[in-house]
Amino acid sequence: MINVALPKGRLGEKVYDMFEKAGFSCPSIKENNRKLIFENKEAGVRYFWVKPSDVAIYVERGAADIGVAGKDILLEYNPDVYELLDLDIGKCRMAVAAKKDFRDNPDTTLRVATKFSNIAAKYYSEKCRDIDIIHLNGSIEIAPILELSDVIVDIVETGKTLLENDLVPFETIADISARLISNKSSYQFKKDIIEKVRLSLAKQVSDKND
Ligand code: PRP
Repeated sequence: MINVALPKGRLGEKVYDMFEKAGFSCPSIKENNRKLIFENKEAGVRYFWVKPSDVAIYVERGAADIGVAGKDILLEYNPDVYELLDLDIGKCRMAVAAKKDFRDNPDTTLRVATKFSNIAAKYYSEKCRDIDIIHLNGSIEIAPILELSDVIVDIVETGKTLLENDLVPFETIADISARLISNKSSYQFKKDIIEKVRLSLAKQVSDKND
């Protein structure tokens, strides 16, 4: 039995479809209910729907053997897992954004609002830029508007949220996409089945890009 942590939401549904094509179907998962665990004994698979930002925790601690997490979460929390494959879905970027009239003054401490404090700290420390991190849990785009921060570090997908809040992206920190990750000891003990999943998903990714 392989235990798979899927990110709850639209991305997770796409990921499940890829697993289904790989031979790990679990029809009951499509039922419209509030259950969070689904199992198909014949296919030897058990799925858990978890909050996207928690997938890496389940996998790191072995509650799930494998899972799919955004590169943003992997960069932010640096979990002790194997990153096996870029699934080429859930694509977006981690960016610095600010009001369009923003001009950085290196003589002052830059106030950075973000949910991704570690990513922001690393990015600015590499630039030797003095910053004050304001950790928020969501609606980050409001911070510069209310003068809570000078810039934000956040996910940009379509750019619509920035646009509608009169912000512009200034710099890209990293390209983000969904990644297949594995618990390290599961990878030793369930290598055959995990490799079967990885190879099939890799083929789907390359077929899509042909
Ligand atoms: C993310 C991010 C932005 C938005 C960007 O939020 O924090 O607010 O998506 O997407 P866009 O460029 O397509 O407008 P998310 O929906 O993950 O929710 P959050 O408020 O919890 O961060």
